[in-house]
Amino acid sequence: MNPNYEKLQRCLKTVRERTDFVPEIALVLGSGLGDYARNMEVEYELPYREIPGFPVSTAPGHDGRFIFGRVGGRKVVCMKGRVHFYEGYEISDVILPIRLMYLLGAKILFLTNAAGGIGDGFQPGDFMMITDHISSFAVNPLIGPNIDELGERFPDMSNAYDPGLQETIRSAAKELGIVLREGVYVQATGPSYESPAEIRMFKLLGADAVGMSTVPEVIAANHCGFRVCAISCISNLAAGIAKHKLTMEEVFEAGRKAAPLFEKLVTKVIEDF
Ligand code: HPA
Repeated sequence: MNPNYEKLQRCLKTVRERTDFVPEIALVLGSGLGDYARNMEVEYELPYREIPGFPVSTAPGHDGRFIFGRVGGRKVVCMKGRVHFYEGYEISDVILPIRLMYLLGAKILFLTNAAGGIGDGFQPGDFMMITDHISSFAVNPLIGPNIDELGERFPDMSNAYDPGLQETIRSAAKELGIVLREGVYVQATGPSYESPAEIRMFKLLGADAVGMSTVPEVIAANHCGFRVCAISCISNLAAGIAKHKLTMEEVFEAGRKAAPLFEKLVTKVIEDF
């Protein structure tokens, strides 16, 4: 058996020994948005470190645990904290949690992240629904022998962000009176922020927001059959557009400020899926 698939099956077995919860929706919380769980009717919590072999995040602000519970009656597994490639994990480990949530039963993946704004007129605190991505600067998580049990060798990415889910998000934002931008997310490797020249390049290539996560997760999720959607919280203007030095504190602070509105949006979207 493919060693990555074997590891995934071991993780699945451990989770199943702890809970028989079958989620409909998998939710991944980005930087500064980790407190969303207070909006959930929690049924069970499982720290990542209690799952042998599971990657445990070292990133600040990423307290790693699965939270199983309900949002407006919908059964959700929430990842409080994700792992990033820049932490030094194998790319197969970065996406293992996504595959695991699929095998637990989730069919919709809702990703959130903090991102730097590149698009014209973007401001910190804006929300951007991701309509497409540029993965060319990040490692493709499907490199290596294909896991046929999960999906095909050459998965299509024409609709990596499910058009129906995008429509749900649009309507939910409209009903709540929340301004929702839309655009293309580019993943840089991090952990350094981008240079102003890199941001100018990304803008020329058609990117509206830049971050250090999400794209490998989206690719792996499409590979295994998830319907995927994602929203970025624009925490700062990207390097060179911002006139000041970028700091992690700024990113977290923007996340914290945006959190109440963001949580409202996430809840309504989940209810409406
Ligand atoms: N660049 C990359 N990742 C980020 C940024 C940024 O400006 N802001 C939040 N995450």
